[in-house]
Amino acid sequence: MTIETTKGGLGGGSGIWRRKPVAPESDEQVGGLRRSIGLVQLTAIGIGAIIGAGIFSLAGTVANGVAGPAVSVSFVIAGIASACAALSYAEFGGLIPHAGSAYTYGYAVLGEFTGWLIGWDLLLEYTAIVAVVAIGISGYFSFLLTDLGVALPAWMLGAPGTGAGHRVDLIAVLLCLLVALLLSRGIRTGARIETGLVAVKLTIVLAVIVVGAFHITAGNFHPYFPYGFGGAVTGAATVFFAVFGYDAMSTAAEESKDAQRIMPRAIVLSLSIAMVLYLLACTVLTGMQKYTEIDRTSAFAVAFRSVGLPVFADVVAVGAIVGIVTVLFSFLLGASRVWFAISRDGLLPGWFARTHPRTKAPYRPTWILGFVAAALAGFVPINAAAELTNIGILVAFIVVSASVIVLRYRSPELPRTFRTPLMPFTPLLGIAFSVWLITQLQVVTWIRFAVWALLGLVLYGTYGYRHSKLGRGVVVHTEDA
Ligand code: ALA
Repeated sequence: MTIETTKGGLGGGSGIWRRKPVAPESDEQVGGLRRSIGLVQLTAIGIGAIIGAGIFSLAGTVANGVAGPAVSVSFVIAGIASACAALSYAEFGGLIPHAGSAYTYGYAVLGEFTGWLIGWDLLLEYTAIVAVVAIGISGYFSFLLTDLGVALPAWMLGAPGTGAGHRVDLIAVLLCLLVALLLSRGIRTGARIETGLVAVKLTIVLAVIVVGAFHITAGNFHPYFPYGFGGAVTGAATVFFAVFGYDAMSTAAEESKDAQRIMPRAIVLSLSIAMVLYLLACTVLTGMQKYTEIDRTSAFAVAFRSVGLPVFADVVAVGAIVGIVTVLFSFLLGASRVWFAISRDGLLPGWFARTHPRTKAPYRPTWILGFVAAALAGFVPINAAAELTNIGILVAFIVVSASVIVLRYRSPELPRTFRTPLMPFTPLLGIAFSVWLITQLQVVTWIRFAVWALLGLVLYGTYGYRHSKLGRGVVVHTEDA
């Protein structure tokens, strides 16, 4: 069947290419979700998802062995790649302020099939990030406890095969379940906790920069490119993990007040703030210690210990844990909202889309994803889970960048509150960067991703296509999903 073009050019297409008509919503409650988040809280969710394991863990890994002091350049390259995609997200965030992020954008512009594949991709992607981050926090946590003389039994310290006697990473499991519990109690609870945790994280990062600035030794910056400029470029593929997260924030669009106006601002603001802090933090890190001595797991804490500040080093370690926790919140929130949006559209059973009558949270997806992330975090080594993350986000970036170009030419008249500058070069550059970064990933990652995509194809063929509300001529944004 053919869906008529509605609401200023969105909608249309037929068969698996039918496009979802989406329109600006009122500021009141829609789709069973409650609009309760303002610009500050939304930006906090963005920063909460962007600044995390990438700077606290990966900056050290890249500085020592890949890029040297030029790790800052790696962050700049990754930041430019991400910014190109961020500007496309910002245009969509203002135009289509609906839950679902890249899934919803893809569905509205490139059609149901593409939207479904991206939604399916994001479910895997976000859940794997939650697991990776939980395992990372668990590592810091056990390190601190050991430092305090508390010896935990080996069986609960990691997934099988990651160390002698390891059976399960119990701290990571509990973390995933705790975050699911908090988010299932409603966005207000989640966003308020998030804002508080982000404030702690920003304070710690700023303290690291200010205190660290007094302990910089200029000689540590020489040579600046010990592994050549190529090292800095290779490092960018790794620290790319640090520069996404605003995409998870855009999944909360339906819970934002005046989303069309504040979503683009929150995306640009959160990435800009993160980039400034990254560059300053990397400069301080590589200025405090020779790049060859920088610790590859808890870089900042070890650096402060090395300049004679052991107490501050422990404060930084605790701050790093708190900082990374906010990433857990953002991505579990993002995954549950993507699932909510997919189910509401009928591509997965609508049972999942029913929000809690009191808290208005999509608690069923939140709990299921929390358990899946907990299982991954408890029993899968960090590398295996981490491999799945980058490819998923890069594919989503490609789709969003392509969608913004298609829509600009197909429907130039739509009321955009934010316009991606330098069209079509900015999104094309975003696509080129993403394709290049995908080629840097391992073949096994491509294979795993292909298997997941195949599973998605089967699900769409056997369930989604026939149950799609758009396919049946029903377009809803209400509780009856
Ligand atoms: N950008 C997030 C982090 O660095 C995923 O942890």
